[in-house]
Amino acid sequence: MTYTDDSTDASAADAAIPPVQDFATDWDFNDPAWVNDPFPIWADLRDRCPMGHSERFNEGVWLPLHYDDIVGIANDPQTFSNVHHGIRRGGTVDRGYFPPINSDPPEHLDIRRTLLPFFAPKRIESWRSHIAADCEARAAEIAERGYGDAAVEYSQHIPVGAIASILGIDPADGDQFRAWIFDILAAGPNDGAVMARAITEVRDYMATVMAARRAEPGDDLISHLVAAEMGGEPLPDHLIERMLVLQLVAGIDTTWSSIGAALWHLACHDDDRRRLAAAPELLPRAMEEFLRAYAPVNVARRVTVDTEVNGVEMRAGDHVMMTFPIACRDPQRFDRANDVVIDRAENRHVAFGAGIHRCLGSNLARLEMEIALETWLRHIPEYSIAPGAEVTWSTGQIRGPRSVPIVVG
Ligand code: HEM
Repeated sequence: MTYTDDSTDASAADAAIPPVQDFATDWDFNDPAWVNDPFPIWADLRDRCPMGHSERFNEGVWLPLHYDDIVGIANDPQTFSNVHHGIRRGGTVDRGYFPPINSDPPEHLDIRRTLLPFFAPKRIESWRSHIAADCEARAAEIAERGYGDAAVEYSQHIPVGAIASILGIDPADGDQFRAWIFDILAAGPNDGAVMARAITEVRDYMATVMAARRAEPGDDLISHLVAAEMGGEPLPDHLIERMLVLQLVAGIDTTWSSIGAALWHLACHDDDRRRLAAAPELLPRAMEEFLRAYAPVNVARRVTVDTEVNGVEMRAGDHVMMTFPIACRDPQRFDRANDVVIDRAENRHVAFGAGIHRCLGSNLARLEMEIALETWLRHIPEYSIAPGAEVTWSTGQIRGPRSVPIVVG
């Protein structure tokens, strides 16, 4: 697949990871320098080479550095397949696949179509009041207390509540979802057994809910999928289970990361925060800029035939990390690419990807982010990072802050 990684802290496995000497030939998204501040590393690499490479994952993984190359690869699914086992330390792990993100044409479109009705703007809008109530309660509590953690107590909960309502499952299971996601995305890339166990558990959970929905259908995505057809046939259970695992994995730490990064930025930049709090009509543009500047998602591709990109020769079987966040910071594409310009007028970022796999949940992610930021700034217009506190960032393919301790006022 796909989405491979976040985390709260470096795991024990991460601690054993040798330090990187040169990111051009040995990049590693778990290296502390990359985790804490990747932007100077990307800028330096872009000046030095068309593409980085690392033998630390799979049998070697390419790291494209230029917007045009990344978008070009995303638009060529025949040469760059989404059917693969992701980016893994010490070789690939057979962890199965998660459609539609792990599907190629023609199957991809059929599967994507079964999900589309649930991600149309009108349907998404129907979840607004639910998301808003969740944000209100959480922001009001932090405002009243006078301090809190913008990632732990706020950002991470909002997508869990949203996905739970879409799937029609109990939001009280949120802690369990986050634990599975951590094991699949953060611990899993370094430990195949942890990943396999988490995937089995989440599939078993989904199988139980599917049986319940067959007995008593509701107006939720699981009820919709158990009744859906593809080519005149019902969808097989194993396919539905995997599609549902993807909803959790794709929908939670991505949005959590984007909301958290925006709140972290606003805690550190008084001018931007005060301007936005005073003029909420700037929010749509500011939100796109946060999505661009702190794009969280890197995904993977597998090369299907020997090919060449920007002078770099790739072999069939090689893997490529689809560095949408690096594309979003390419100065050849964006003026002042490394500055956060909250009223940036032209912003054709690729935080949601490009081509046939472009994010299916982008409308939902934008809705969650808009409500989360507007509500936070209304309750907490003045705040900063708590003195002496440490902000921590995830490791791996999904980048976002995992702890943002703040004080109000
Ligand atoms: C800010 C939040 C999000 C970001 C930045 C993001 C980013 C992305 C990116 C870059 C891709 C392309 C993957 C590829 O090229 O292989 C993608 C695909 C996808 N995303 Fe998101 N995503 C976000 C939120 C969500 C949400 C909330 C959901 C659903 C609940 C979701 C569901 C999906 C699905 C199902 C795909 C696969 C689409 C396909 O293969 O056709 N995403 N996302």
